[in-house]
This record gives sequence, structure tokens and C-alpha cells, in this order.
Amino acid sequence: MKVTITGAAGRIAYSLIPLILHGHVFGPNTPIDLVLLDIPEAYNKLKGIELETDDSSFDNLRSLKITTDAEDAFVGCEVAILLGGFPRLPGMERRDLLKKNADNIKSQALALNRTANPNVKVVVVANPANTNCLVAIKTATNIPPENFTCLTRLDEERLRGLCAKKMAEVLQQTVKGVDIDNVFIFGNHSNTQVAYINEGTLQQTPGEPVRVADHFSDEEYQAMLKRVQNRGAEIIKFLQVSSAMSAAEATAKHLRDWLGAADESRRMSAFSMGILLQESVYGLAPGIVYSLPCVRSDSAPCGYTIRSDLVLPETTLALMRTSETELLEERSEVAEYL
Ligand code: LMR
Repeated sequence: MKVTITGAAGRIAYSLIPLILHGHVFGPNTPIDLVLLDIPEAYNKLKGIELETDDSSFDNLRSLKITTDAEDAFVGCEVAILLGGFPRLPGMERRDLLKKNADNIKSQALALNRTANPNVKVVVVANPANTNCLVAIKTATNIPPENFTCLTRLDEERLRGLCAKKMAEVLQQTVKGVDIDNVFIFGNHSNTQVAYINEGTLQQTPGEPVRVADHFSDEEYQAMLKRVQNRGAEIIKFLQVSSAMSAAEATAKHLRDWLGAADESRRMSAFSMGILLQESVYGLAPGIVYSLPCVRSDSAPCGYTIRSDLVLPETTLALMRTSETELLEERSEVAEYL
């Protein structure tokens, strides 16, 4: 598997590289040809990472290349992980990065389009992730649009973690996030996103699954929704930089559940990804990158299908439309790049 990471000298990559090279993402039997791309100013950091990688004897590493040239980085690439971009700082919204990062994403997408494997799968993490993903899709016209995704699994994991804490309180027992299934994120990776728990269950062995939503009052749900929507900012307030460890974990899970080894037992049955709406789903406008629950599909060339069968309450649909409006506005703001 040929994997390229952009922004590879950054903090998310530093946590993500070991996960990939230990086989936690593409499975223990998949050798990885890894390419690390960053800007020329970050070359020394890339060199340091290369040396550390040499010193780590990772089981799954077949070859490693570091480069500051995008044309070189994506040759034959099968999975592209786009982390590179200006990060959000205290007091900023992700949307403030729209124009700053669009140029960067566009040049990466041009290189991807020219040199990557035509069936390359892409995850965009750099913020604002949804609209950056749209810029990449509209730029890399040789690559099927459904092969592009953006990361909202981080938000889903945040939601999962909060649900697990609450269920532990209610049931007076240890509950792990990984046991909470079918909680989803709709919309933008921003503070308009919608955390959805109505389908959520706590899987217990032994025992029947417990419905998560039954244990939240409306007030508690609203508080959790706000918390998930603002979690990135909450972390920045404490760390003074944006989340990296959890972003790397979420990127690994996003890729594992979508493209990882077929026999992976820890996979979620459905998982949130930002994807291009090519037609209207849940009444949403086509032409934006919107987070929806997806299900892995080994027979679909893009590797997933969208879960469009949920019966959503009007309150949820109204929140989803607010996020849709924001994404339509973001799309207008980057019209020159599309
Ligand atoms: C996050 O959600 O932690 C990342 O998208 C970084 C940010 O800007 O908050």
C-alpha cells in the first residue's frame, strides 16, 4: 500500500505514523511504502522523523521517502492523507482558515491528479476540512469524487467518549467508548455539526444492547451537543495548539473502517465521514461535502455506501440544515478555487 501524508512534519503526523506502521490502520499483513511530504522549511523535521523511523523497526514499513515536492510525493499513491495546512490558533474558528488553506489544498490536489493512482482514496484533515475537501474534489478531476472524504470521525469519537462516560454513570460500571455503536455526526466539522445519538447503542457481552438516547434528558443531550461542537476549541484553550493525538487516532480509525483489513474486528458497523453529496440525501443540497453515516462496502469501488435510511426527527433535520447553510456559504467564499 503506497501511502502519502502531507503536513508530515506536523504534530498529527507524529502520532499517526506509528499507528500506520504498526499495522493498526491497513492491517498487520499490509507492507507500507510511506511518503512524507511537507514544505521546504520543514525539511529538517522530516529528516528527523526519517531517522526516528529507522530507529523504530516498524513491522509494516517497506520503504520510506521524505520530500518537499508534491509532484514527487503522490506518484502512484493509493491513499493520501492531507494533514498539511495552517492550524487553528486560540480564538479562531476553522472557517477563518478557508482562504489560507485553499491554495495549499489546491496545489496538493493538482499534483495528486497528475501523478496518483487513479483510484486513490483521500482523507482531508486540514481545516476547514469539508470545504478543503470540496476544493480538492473540484481540482482533481481525474479522480472519482466519491474517493474523497474529510475527517469527522474525530467528532464522532468525541461523542462516543462522552456517551460512554454518561452510560458508565448510569449503569455504575466501566463503559468503553469502543462499545458505543451507531452514534454519528452530520454536517460540517465546525460548531454547527450535529451529534446524533438516537441510533446509538451500548453493546454489552453478555447482555442486550442498551439504547443510549434513553438515558439522556433533552437538556443533557443539548449540553453534550454543544460540548462536541466546541471540543476542538476546548482543547486549544488548554493546549494552546489544536488536538493532535486524538486527531491521529480518529484518522487511523476513519481509514481502518473504510479501507483497512477486511477481517478487522474492532470496526464500527457505520461511521461518520464527510463526503460529497452528489445527489440530495435527507433533503440536503447536493454539491457540498457533508458528514453522514457511511457503511463499508467492499464491492463499491469507493469502498463505502451512505446510510440514507435513518428516520430523522425534525429537530435534527433543522440543525442539519443550519450546517448545510454554513457549508453553502463556505463554498461561495472559495468559489474562485472550485
Ligand atoms: C479539532 O477539531 O480538534 C481540529 O479540527 C483542530 C481544530 O481546529 O479544532
